Amino acid sequence: MQTQKVIVFSDIHITAPAREGQADPERRLRAGLAHMQAVISDADLVVICGDLTHHGDEASYRRLKPVIDGLDLPVLLMLGNHDDRGAFCGVFTDAPVDGDGFVQRVVALGEWRLIALDTLTVRREGEEFTHAGELCARRLAWLDAQLSAAGDSPCIVAMHHPAHDTGFAAMDSIKLREGEAFYDLIARHGNVRHIIAGHIHRTISGTHRGVPFSIFKSSVGQMPLAFEGTDTAIECDEPPAFGIVLLRGDDVLVHTEDYVVG
Ligand SMILES: [Fe+2]
Ligand SMILES: [Fe+2]
Repeated sequence: MQTQKVIVFSDIHITAPAREGQADPERRLRAGLAHMQAVISDADLVVICGDLTHHGDEASYRRLKPVIDGLDLPVLLMLGNHDDRGAFCGVFTDAPVDGDGFVQRVVALGEWRLIALDTLTVRREGEEFTHAGELCARRLAWLDAQLSAAGDSPCIVAMHHPAHDTGFAAMDSIKLREGEAFYDLIARHGNVRHIIAGHIHRTISGTHRGVPFSIFKSSVGQMPLAFEGTDTAIECDEPPAFGIVLLRGDDVLVHTEDYVVG
């Protein structure tokens, strides 16, 4: 039985230059990728699940590009609330963009389909910026079409923002805003077997409305166990990690691997 192996990094928050007084996110990402390549020789796909940069500026994307170009693997880059769609597309000019300009795509992995969503909220004049996630009507319609096209193929959905509460009061205030519409949609199709997300900077798993999910750590700071905290930017110095999602027959097996930044 063929196994598809998907590596998941998230929340890499690259800056240019490095953030003063903090470990350089680019160095931390390179350490994680080096560890991944040392322990896994046959990955089929590397997904970086959003918050590619901290400030969404072109200089940070330019700093990230050679790291990605140096990998001899297919890499799927996704956007998060710290990203900027225009700056990203200006540097990653070959990034797949849907017909409405959102950074979304479908990857076939054997029988499986991995559907990567763009949950970055569009900045609209007169509206205050929010770190919460968004799946507007156009993005939900795109997802609807991809799930229809997948038919009986089992699907994994990857999205930066979780579409449900995670137990962290602060982060739950900036989850995906259209969570119920998203879950109504995937329930109608019935072919989503697992959801991959980031944003929280912590390893969390569970189910919501019967659909299993896995949320992965960041390559920079991690979320401390402070359920009632009110600070979304709070961090602790736990080891970073990446995820390994094995698609084997009908099974989804999810591992995480801590690594050391030297
Ligand atoms: Fe993040
Ligand atoms: Fe985020």
